[in-house]
Amino acid sequence: MLKPFYLRQSAAHKRLLELAASVGALHLRDLFAGDPDRLHRMSASLEGLYLDWSKHRVTEEVMDALFALAEEAGWAKGVQDLFAGERINQTEDRAVLHMALRGDAGDGFTVDGKDVMDEVLATRRAMGAYADAVRSNGRITDVVNIGIGGSDLGPLMVTKALRNQSEGGPNVHFVSNVDGAHLESVLDSLNPETTLFIVVSKTFTTQETMANADAAKAWIEAASLPVSDHFAAVSTNVPAAVAFGVKEAHVFGFRDWVGGRYSLWGPVGLSIACSVGSAAFGELLAGARDMDRHVAEAPARENVPLISALLGVWYREYLGFPTHVVLPYAQDLDRFPAYLQQADMESNGKYVGRDGLPVEHATGPVVWGEAGTNGQHAFYQLLHQGTDIHPADIIAVDAPLSAYTDHHTKLLANAIAQAEALMCGRNEADVRAEMEAAGRTAAEIEAVAPHRVFRGNRPSTFILLDALNARSVGQLIALYEHRIFIQGLLWNVCSYDQWGVELGKVLAKNILSEWSEVSTGSEHDASTQFLIERLKR
Ligand code: F6P
Repeated sequence: MLKPFYLRQSAAHKRLLELAASVGALHLRDLFAGDPDRLHRMSASLEGLYLDWSKHRVTEEVMDALFALAEEAGWAKGVQDLFAGERINQTEDRAVLHMALRGDAGDGFTVDGKDVMDEVLATRRAMGAYADAVRSNGRITDVVNIGIGGSDLGPLMVTKALRNQSEGGPNVHFVSNVDGAHLESVLDSLNPETTLFIVVSKTFTTQETMANADAAKAWIEAASLPVSDHFAAVSTNVPAAVAFGVKEAHVFGFRDWVGGRYSLWGPVGLSIACSVGSAAFGELLAGARDMDRHVAEAPARENVPLISALLGVWYREYLGFPTHVVLPYAQDLDRFPAYLQQADMESNGKYVGRDGLPVEHATGPVVWGEAGTNGQHAFYQLLHQGTDIHPADIIAVDAPLSAYTDHHTKLLANAIAQAEALMCGRNEADVRAEMEAAGRTAAEIEAVAPHRVFRGNRPSTFILLDALNARSVGQLIALYEHRIFIQGLLWNVCSYDQWGVELGKVLAKNILSEWSEVSTGSEHDASTQFLIERLKR
């Protein structure tokens, strides 16, 4: 179990408060001007991944204090406990070992003293063989992943990200929403004879997934096809999947020490493996494993997930910035922000600490974002000139992502320009000079110039991947997973449970059962009661 940590009672906290008061007033432009070595010190190159955090509103003193905070929180011991399979998911009394899913024989991942790698590797081989058979037998043209949350967002995001490695694989579709329009819109274009459904559910009880799986089963049966030939399943609840009608050999199990939002590395990634093949899937795991080794072995000042986590804590706790915006300049990564929303917000969006008491500080930020350049024409106005500041992660890829290489140059130019604009902004003198040069009248300049000024000083991390491939995507995801873990340590929350999603599920079940009753009880508030009555009518 991870010990509680009280950030506001730490020695580093006092220092960070003092620094926030002074550093808050510094402009990034000046920090760069006064420090020629800044970029060198505040950037890192891992294999295939370059990360530049020089455009953050931090000084060396701030970084020192943040590292001291991490020390006080026992970050290194926390990472050790995580990798050692300690039961750090304390409210569910479980270990947290998704890293084992991407591990190798001999990595020594154990739960309750038992090495788990034999089982992990056997499942990996079985799902890899199954995926490769789906790819090669020519019978299946379309795979439909039915799942929601962690059983959807990770596989969907990675499958999209690896579009360029999917040649020879089936078309892979994702159905998650309990809105029947989702399933309908996918099935509309499919032929039951050549369609394989993969029902992915850790519990195999999730309402949305079971509703979609039942409907898909009826669709196969209506075509007089054997259900067992058209379904595979992924679950910790193997008996339920078999009872549903999936052949036991086509049910891929995993353990409760894998959280839903951290599960794409194992059988939950079956749709990814069907899309790109088992070899590329293995590369995805290898990339993540590289990042696991990095977080466990790199010293604090070179530890990229730690640094990323600390910057997030700095902004949330000390500068009061409410959100974290993720801007992938890669259309193939356009689901990455949605994936991260679950990974981050379901993990750290909590007001109760590890000691069971309300925490006295802010915890996880709102995570949001959109692929660039699309976002530029939607919400960047607010990023540049809004009243709140939203620290950004800009993710770009060096190698072109399509045959339209000219497009790629434009895409990259935009990514770099946005980071520069956020940081440098534009001062009033320049705006006025430009308007004068354009022949605008003094009155026009007076009226419009203030609106054209950008204060800048808006921080961003620039993450540059050499190429968007299975390995780099694995690295990137694991970087964020470890960032989330370390932030959870510092914020003193239980990052691996998700009790906050339960109440809505229970109430929806209650309302659903009332739907069929003649008159509903009066247990709801007036507003809820009216909505039920109105929709029943
Ligand atoms: O409702 C939240 C959640 O429990 C997520 O944590 C999980 O990823 C998702 O539902 C789906 O759960 P399951 O894989 O059990 O269907």
